[in-house]
Amino acid sequence: MGNNFNRKEGAIGVFDSGYGGLTILSEIRSLMPHYDYIYLGDNARAPYGNRSFEIVYRFTLQAVEWFFSQGCHLIILACNTASAKALRSIQENDLPLLDPQRRVLGIIRPTVESINDFTKTGHIGVFGTEGTIQSQSYELEIKKLHPHLFVTGEACPMWVPLVENNEHNNPGADYFVKQHIDRLLKKDPHIDTLILGCTHYPLLIKKIKQYLPEYIHVIAQGKYVAKSLKNYLERHPEMNEKCRKNGTIRFFTTESPEKFSQQASLFLNKKIKAQNINIDTLC
Ligand code: DGL
Repeated sequence: MGNNFNRKEGAIGVFDSGYGGLTILSEIRSLMPHYDYIYLGDNARAPYGNRSFEIVYRFTLQAVEWFFSQGCHLIILACNTASAKALRSIQENDLPLLDPQRRVLGIIRPTVESINDFTKTGHIGVFGTEGTIQSQSYELEIKKLHPHLFVTGEACPMWVPLVENNEHNNPGADYFVKQHIDRLLKKDPHIDTLILGCTHYPLLIKKIKQYLPEYIHVIAQGKYVAKSLKNYLERHPEMNEKCRKNGTIRFFTTESPEKFSQQASLFLNKKIKAQNINIDTLC
């Protein structure tokens, strides 16, 4: 796995703290199957949700540098926590030094662009990790695009561990799903549109819909991120040229590759084989 930094073309990098970003990758891949992809889950250090700004930034930057060493020119942070806490610093401070021609994109903006189509009451709910909710990134982005909307966030710190530990379909998950729905709707009973602002949460969507009033529209991010990436590549032919198109996909994890392969195969509904890497020696 030498250093491929200088390659003219590379795979599109997709990053998450763990398995959640696979929900984004599978939508991107089904819209654009001919591109090459590299997925990295930092499972050894997940969850990121309750970690400080500094730590999420450092871990994410290490991942970005690793993707660059693999020849990626374009990276998607398929993690709301990393998008909320690390994206801006990396774009503004690190990219100009590392390589101003490469791009790191987040997933909050493309999600927010979709919401105005759905809400009638103008009241939006956001479920996310503690980091994402505390950062108020959704609220800020929504207000920029749609200043008339009301936004209420609810942090769900137990949901990512449920997914990472493959407990999301088990009866124990019901308690925590219902708890956060009740809390959110108590804070704002007028919500009619709900953003799943964490890439792990689509795995809980069946249970979420079971406890949510039917009139509430639930937004899972994958489709919107995929559409926005396609649009980005159409608008940036110079970047599109640097994205290799052999239809391949490779998986890497900072934890056990056997465990990742087994879990990811469940997420993606097909068998995959992951490799282990260590990224904490970078930066
Ligand atoms: N899946 C990530 C997100 O979208 C982070 C989950 C975590 O590591 O806490 O926020």
